[in-house]
Amino acid sequence: MNHEIVEKKVTWLGVWIALVISIGGLVEIVPLYFSSETSRPAPGVKPYTALALEGRDIYIREGCYNCHSQMVRPLRAETERYGHYSLAGESVYDHPFQFGSKRTGPDLARVGGRYTDEWHRAHLTNPRDLVPESNMPTYPWLSKTLVDANRTSDKLRALRAVGVPYTDEEVKLAGYEVRDKTEMDALVAYLQGLGTAAANW
Ligand code: HEC
Repeated sequence: MNHEIVEKKVTWLGVWIALVISIGGLVEIVPLYFSSETSRPAPGVKPYTALALEGRDIYIREGCYNCHSQMVRPLRAETERYGHYSLAGESVYDHPFQFGSKRTGPDLARVGGRYTDEWHRAHLTNPRDLVPESNMPTYPWLSKTLVDANRTSDKLRALRAVGVPYTDEEVKLAGYEVRDKTEMDALVAYLQGLGTAAANW
């Protein structure tokens, strides 16, 4: 009887649907805020160095996430190719995270240490020098442009405001760490750090 009223009155139907969906959503989402698995760093995961952080901003600026995900799914085909599946605790210092969903190129969550710095430099300058069939764009300007060291301390300070545990010392010295470094140096430092903690799991 009551069921019929809800089914025939579209407003009530809407209200009930909204109610049921929000309860379903809250039950799934709220526990994540309190679970240590999602809010504490996984073993060996550290905040980015100032240089890697600048590299991460270049990764975002250049839109690398449009072709590369950073999320190894818990499926055999993925773990055999890339390594340990991604854990929530790996992304606690990522604001915003770079999970991505498009894989025109391979997943990069575990790329740190897989190639040498020189390989990355040559590859980013012209991917086809190393992988002839690659359709990845070239990024030759990265090695000709210096990182803007004036803003690095502010970036660390902003991340500290959302919970990344940088010390006063690290914030103060951030500008020195990236001074005279090219955008290529920064991006390679970022790539070489990706997933290195997972190597020991
Ligand atoms: C249009 C899509 C596209 C974009 C944009 C792109 N890539 Fe790629 N990337 C690829 C493809 C395809 C490959 C595989 C062939 C190769 O190695 O070049 C690849 C390979 C790679 C590899 C080697 C991965 C491995 O495990 O072998 C790295 C590292 C990489 N890209 C980094 C980057 C970075 C950093 C950026 C942004 C500056 C970027 N890519 C932008 C398509 C893209």
